[in-house]
Amino acid sequence: MEKIIVLGGKGGVGKSSISAATAVLLSELLPDKKILLISFDIAHNISDLFKLQIGNELTPLTDNLWGIEPDPNIYAEEYTRELVAKMKNLMKQMPIVGRIPQIKEFIDTTFTADSIPLALKNAMFFQKILDAEGLNAQSIQFDIIIADFPPTGNMIALFEIPEDQVKVVLKYSLNFYNSIKGAMRKFSKVFRNLIKPFDDYEKRRELGKEIFGMIVDLEERGERITELIHRIGSLRLVTIAEKPSFEEIKRARDLTKRYIELEAVHINMITPESKKCDFCNNIRSVQLKYVNDIIKEFNNLKIWKSNKLKEEPIGIDGLRILAREVYGYDISAGDILNP
Ligand SMILES: Nc1ncnc2c1ncn2[C@@H]1O[C@H](COP(=O)(O)OP(=O)(O)OP(=O)(O)O)[C@@H](O)[C@H]1O
Ligand SMILES: [Mg+2]
Repeated sequence: MEKIIVLGGKGGVGKSSISAATAVLLSELLPDKKILLISFDIAHNISDLFKLQIGNELTPLTDNLWGIEPDPNIYAEEYTRELVAKMKNLMKQMPIVGRIPQIKEFIDTTFTADSIPLALKNAMFFQKILDAEGLNAQSIQFDIIIADFPPTGNMIALFEIPEDQVKVVLKYSLNFYNSIKGAMRKFSKVFRNLIKPFDDYEKRRELGKEIFGMIVDLEERGERITELIHRIGSLRLVTIAEKPSFEEIKRARDLTKRYIELEAVHINMITPESKKCDFCNNIRSVQLKYVNDIIKEFNNLKIWKSNKLKEEPIGIDGLRILAREVYGYDISAGDILNP
């Protein structure tokens, strides 16, 4: 993998459209590279942008571009299946569990991938892709990944979790363990004499070791991902020329600093100059003040400006038009990859 381009910013500013347009243009400029466009927003919409049903499968969009709108539940299930099974096993070895069917049932119904927070599930998927484990059975080695991220808060979670993977998994397990303890406390009056350490010490030790090994693997993976994002990740923040989304990208810059390098800012949907529409020109002049402020604020970065197009940029052709509006006609792939 050579580059991971991440697009972020406030809702509705054009993150998905610019992600898709960038993917289309790069796939044309770099026919020998394999490119993947991923949506990390739960409200996926790259299907709409390409007028194709994409969903949870790698879907070819051009000869060298694929898209996916992952269902984080599926990946969380795969990712945690083994760990969850072992943890359950360990808990079930507590003698009390054997004696109180409700606790066994509680373990079975509560400690599942379903109860993992969505942000963690998304992060698990993000890591799975980045860790080159391949998607589904059709393992394609991608050279460039373009990730359409959710608005800032959820974006941070995607970066944060690989780093604190172990903490999150342990916290999750611990919460669960505590809820079992809570359940046990309810019964403890009745069963006080029955509660003793695990029956089969050796078996428990083995399981404990395996679980520990899995947690170490998780930690190593988290470190690999964090290192990878530091090395080849490139954040681009998308804004429109208005105060709220400008404020949001300033916040996003500060919050993401420790995870990924911010390399560019897109100022999208600027109202074009009009001969007939004074109202439009008034809007434009207000927007241009913000454009100046944004350029000043992010003066060390590449700024790409794009006007509001007459037609919604949809379908490969529409996205190609948007890409040219954003990047111009003289741009090289290198300038897009390393602004
Ligand atoms: N330069 C542009 N000119 C005209 N329309 C645009 C432009 N950029 C984006 N749009 C349109 O604006 C709308 C919002 O764009 P998009 O869905 O890409 O934003 P988003 O930031 O991904 O939103 P969300 O936060 O909801 O995911 C879409 O209808 C899109 O077609
Ligand atoms: Mg979007």
